[in-house]
Amino acid sequence: MISIIAAYDDDRGIGKDGKLPWRSRYDMAMFKEITMGRAVVMGRKTFDSLPKKQPLKGRANIVITRDIATAIRNYEPYRIPIETPQTSIGFASTLADGVQVGRAFGPEVVIIGGAEVYAQALPVAERLYLSHIEGRYGCDTFLPEIDLSGPTWMVARIQTGGGEDGQPKVIFTEYRRQERR
Ligand SMILES: NC(=O)c1ccc[n+]([C@@H]2O[C@H](COP(=O)([O-])OP(=O)(O)OC[C@H]3O[C@@H](n4cnc5c(N)ncnc54)[C@H](OP(=O)(O)O)[C@@H]3O)[C@@H](O)[C@H]2O)c1
Repeated sequence: MISIIAAYDDDRGIGKDGKLPWRSRYDMAMFKEITMGRAVVMGRKTFDSLPKKQPLKGRANIVITRDIATAIRNYEPYRIPIETPQTSIGFASTLADGVQVGRAFGPEVVIIGGAEVYAQALPVAERLYLSHIEGRYGCDTFLPEIDLSGPTWMVARIQTGGGEDGQPKVIFTEYRRQERR
């Protein structure tokens, strides 16, 4: 099964200057809960945005790029021994290859962005984990339009959090694709 996890603001913005423009402990906790122990597939630009270009711990990180040789060469200076069990990193040259590699780690492969990769994964995703981060953050990268009110997506759960200590309010919604007809 392919899932998508994304956080977006009031403008459907997801990133600014190659980074997340907000800090949300609640959203980070949800992200960790959903992705931990699973394979996560991301675009090369999202990987570049991770702190010190280190793979997410406890997850099989799969980075997609059209130029694997360059991506690996650029990553080499950051490579350190991985000590956490279940952490790994690999590169794939198509989304389909990335997902196929991810399936070796378990039944649910989670697409973690960014916009270019979300757009390609949406037609094949079975689950969406979406965090609406309240506010406007002047983003330059956006979540593709998704018709969440039509028959395609069914709400499976809604949770809210954040809103204290200057943290943004977050509405987290899990959607499941209805049976394909
Ligand atoms: N709010 C959120 O939930 C969230 C989540 C993730 C990221 N973000 C933000 O989103 C922004 C990055 O998104 P983005 O759309 O600019 O970039 P992206 O989707 O992260 O990465 C795009 C890159 O992925 C590779 N790629 C994409 N499709 C491919 C395919 N079919 N086959 C092979 N390689 C493929 C290409 O890498 P090469 O150029 O190397 O070929 C492409 O340049 C950042 O600001 C980041 O912080 C936000």
